[in-house]
Amino acid sequence: MEKKKILVARAVFPAVLERLASHFEVQSNQDELNYSAPELAAALQDKDGLFSSPSVTIDGALLAACPRLKVISNMAVGYNNIDIAAASAAGIMVTNTPGVLDNATADFGWALLLATARRVTEASDWLRAGHWKKWGYDSFLGADVHGATLGIIGMGRIGAAIARRASGFDMRVIYHNRQPVADGMAPGAAWVSKQQLLAEADHVILTLPYSSATHHTIGAAELDAMKPSAILINLARGGIVDDAALIAALRAHRIAGAGLDVFENEPAYAPEFLSLPNVVLTPHIASATLSARRAMADCAADNLIAALHGQMPRHLVNPAVR
Ligand code: GLV
Repeated sequence: MEKKKILVARAVFPAVLERLASHFEVQSNQDELNYSAPELAAALQDKDGLFSSPSVTIDGALLAACPRLKVISNMAVGYNNIDIAAASAAGIMVTNTPGVLDNATADFGWALLLATARRVTEASDWLRAGHWKKWGYDSFLGADVHGATLGIIGMGRIGAAIARRASGFDMRVIYHNRQPVADGMAPGAAWVSKQQLLAEADHVILTLPYSSATHHTIGAAELDAMKPSAILINLARGGIVDDAALIAALRAHRIAGAGLDVFENEPAYAPEFLSLPNVVLTPHIASATLSARRAMADCAADNLIAALHGQMPRHLVNPAVR
């Protein structure tokens, strides 16, 4: 039987490519750059499946131009890079990779929180620049993390993994979701309104999915509602925070600092961030451990293989299509 054809739109582990090649005829983009929209449409003309990642934008116009496409397997838990409504309308299955990245991403949330609150990158840059001449009792005074109140907006799997780690820091944990989560999902964490969370949290971590409903969940009004000593961490998606409002708040010391792994319009980011010492910036690497990324790639490959072999993929985002 003739093999189905797939496109792997971004570089991925060679072993995963080999596995895909044992099932499909594979075209892959192993370059550093994303395909442009016309290149992507051209490459997808004869393809049944697409192995994609968060940096690949899949909108209605692209889907309309690729009538043969049956499955999009996104190597990520988030899938806001894909127009799900358009995919569903076109009968295209979309899959994601939940679960396997929760702990790595939660660890990184803590790395960003600790680095920001304790001014790690700022102090490191200062040392590297040769400024260290003496020990100072007041050098790089930061904010306590232990014993503080942690506010988590978005209590899903990753939020819950972050909350579990907070017990080791003797923290009070409050969270906001549209609704309180089931008992047992986040033991010891208390649901509060968004306003209460912003007013009471010493550190706010964002772990909610991006959608039009969560666009600019944190804007000027929310930043104003936070404590001036507060730290904001975004490891969810760009667009959940209004970056321009955040830059203004950081400049005016309306909050103490921010740790950001995601940005509006990434990989572009507002250049103003670079001149702010009280912000830690990383390039969307929260899930980037070898084991987590490999598990995500394997999970995405499993989903694609199952779907194109006529089986139910394990992580179908739009089940109505089946
Ligand atoms: C990464 O950002 C993901 O959604 O998995």
